[in-house]
Amino acid sequence: MTCAKIILFGEHSAVYGKPAIAVPVKSLQCNIKVSSSKKNRIKTSFDICEPENKSLMDVLQIILKELNQKKSFSIEIDSNIPIAAGFGSSASISVEMIRAISTKVNLHMSTEKISSIAYECEKTFHGTPSGIDNTVITYEKPVFFIKNKKIEFIKLTKPITFLIALTGIKKQSTKEIVLDVRKKYNSDNENMAKYFNEMENIAIFAKSAIEKGDIEKIGDLMNQNQSYLSKISVSSPEIDRLIDIALATGAYGAKLSGAGRGGNIIVAGKQKDYGTIKKNLLKQGAQSVFMETII
Ligand code: MEV
Repeated sequence: MTCAKIILFGEHSAVYGKPAIAVPVKSLQCNIKVSSSKKNRIKTSFDICEPENKSLMDVLQIILKELNQKKSFSIEIDSNIPIAAGFGSSASISVEMIRAISTKVNLHMSTEKISSIAYECEKTFHGTPSGIDNTVITYEKPVFFIKNKKIEFIKLTKPITFLIALTGIKKQSTKEIVLDVRKKYNSDNENMAKYFNEMENIAIFAKSAIEKGDIEKIGDLMNQNQSYLSKISVSSPEIDRLIDIALATGAYGAKLSGAGRGGNIIVAGKQKDYGTIKKNLLKQGAQSVFMETII
């Protein structure tokens, strides 16, 4: 079984070498069964259309090559991780596929190696990923992530509970959104560099707020991060509307999580308020809302 993830701080700026914070979401899981077969085949428990199906086959080829396997396999993917919703479903599938195939052929893989192969797979899905998704999903621990730097894990002194709401909007592909941001970075470099620097400061403050379990501070920093995500144009009217509802119902903070333009939002508040916030989010069109506790 392999988990999903949410990014608490620093999506997009992570691609530019700024720190970002991601945590595992263990209530969402992907499970893969592998059996020997005459030719490579992939079956999924969820609907999938052509570009994604082709990417899965490409990913399987990458993994077989990395594991030095000449045989063919039938792969059955069973996952409750929503696709294109900011939960790292592609990284979760890649990591689980590497684990399942290596177990099938009795190969011991280190966690580091699994993450590095999954990073190669992520390039197939996302073009120029920072590596944050495969890292947090492989290690299943909160990470303070900086591209190409040694992984730093965050130690929480107490559990933190967030509310996660799905907008129900299937976002554009991460690849397209990351590319759009790159174009904006090239055409408006001065402002974009300024925004990414601000996001860096926010992520650094957020690390210590998370370590202390200071949910009010985390919420405040999430609001600040969201304002820069809007400025780099990865928010959307649906995201903004759900965030406004959460804040109007007493949340300390809320922001989009992942590539944006749909997908999910995360909310930080008092746990006793989550019931009402959830009710209001659902009333205003959120597709589903659930609590996730990070330890
Ligand atoms: C996607 O989960 C997070 C992005 O920052 C892309 C990346 O870091 O690879 C948008």
